[in-house]
Amino acid sequence: MSEQLKGRTIFITGSGGVLGSTYVRRMLAKGARVIASDLAGHRAEALKDAHGGNENFRFYDLDVGDEAQCEGIFKRIIADGWEPNVVLNNAAITGELLMGAGKPFPDFANTSVSDWERTLRTNLTGAFMIARQMDREIVGRYPAALINVASMYALNGPHHQIYEGMPFKSFSAYSTTKAGIHGLTLWLAGYWAKRQATVNTIAPGAVFNGHSEEFQRRVGDLIMMNRMAQPDEIADAMLFLCSPQAGYMTGQLVNVDGGFSGW
Ligand SMILES: NC(=O)c1ccc[n+]([C@@H]2O[C@H](COP(=O)([O-])OP(=O)(O)OC[C@H]3O[C@@H](n4cnc5c(N)ncnc54)[C@H](O)[C@@H]3O)[C@@H](O)[C@H]2O)c1
Repeated sequence: MSEQLKGRTIFITGSGGVLGSTYVRRMLAKGARVIASDLAGHRAEALKDAHGGNENFRFYDLDVGDEAQCEGIFKRIIADGWEPNVVLNNAAITGELLMGAGKPFPDFANTSVSDWERTLRTNLTGAFMIARQMDREIVGRYPAALINVASMYALNGPHHQIYEGMPFKSFSAYSTTKAGIHGLTLWLAGYWAKRQATVNTIAPGAVFNGHSEEFQRRVGDLIMMNRMAQPDEIADAMLFLCSPQAGYMTGQLVNVDGGFSGW
């Protein structure tokens, strides 16, 4: 079982976040080669510090909002000798990221077009550009899998009242991109199926990342299992989607949300 991902060469965008870094650690432990990437900065450095000595780990600086970088990334990886057969569109502008950057959360009426477009550029256009490059360089050459990362807020609206008085909020562009990314999954799944490539979406629920007890209680009340997820619980499902055992799944949305979407 510890070799479940041997033979998988997994390329992950936005690898330095709370979930991305968990995926990297768990994938390496399962015998995968992991090609991590993220914006240059402290998250990238922490990943390199943690795994730089592992021969199955490589890291590339990558801004998924930059078209030239997305067009070049597979060529760089392949030129360095590895061929990714699993790709995770995981990078995103998230509420946690905005809060960490000290960005205020404007209400809907005061949301600027530039903030809206920045989120769409990273979360949706970035995922499209990575998928398009995967099509150009990988799909049809050997069996491959793409996993797009959505959210519990893709197909369900947020309960806005749980954010009252909290330092962070849900934001409209985020939900919009997370719904949109599953549209990309559905479109590509049929388009790639005859070329031996699968495409699925994972929709993580609310992941605990130091939230206050009050917020945990409020969001927990909306979840059948009555609590937030630990990052490793999302990783368990992600590891399955990356494994050969998911080979007959395509075009699916996998909710890993403790029952949030199941009431
Ligand atoms: N944590 C949760 O509760 C939760 C719930 C549902 C869905 N998700 C989704 O899971 C994925 C990972 O979430 P997380 O909790 O690790 O988020 P996070 O905010 O901790 O990490 C996001 C990562 O994306 C990177 N990133 C941002 N802009 C980028 C860009 N332009 N190019 C490349 N990388 C960029 C950041 O540097 C960061 O490392 C995201 O797609 C997120 O929307 C998370």
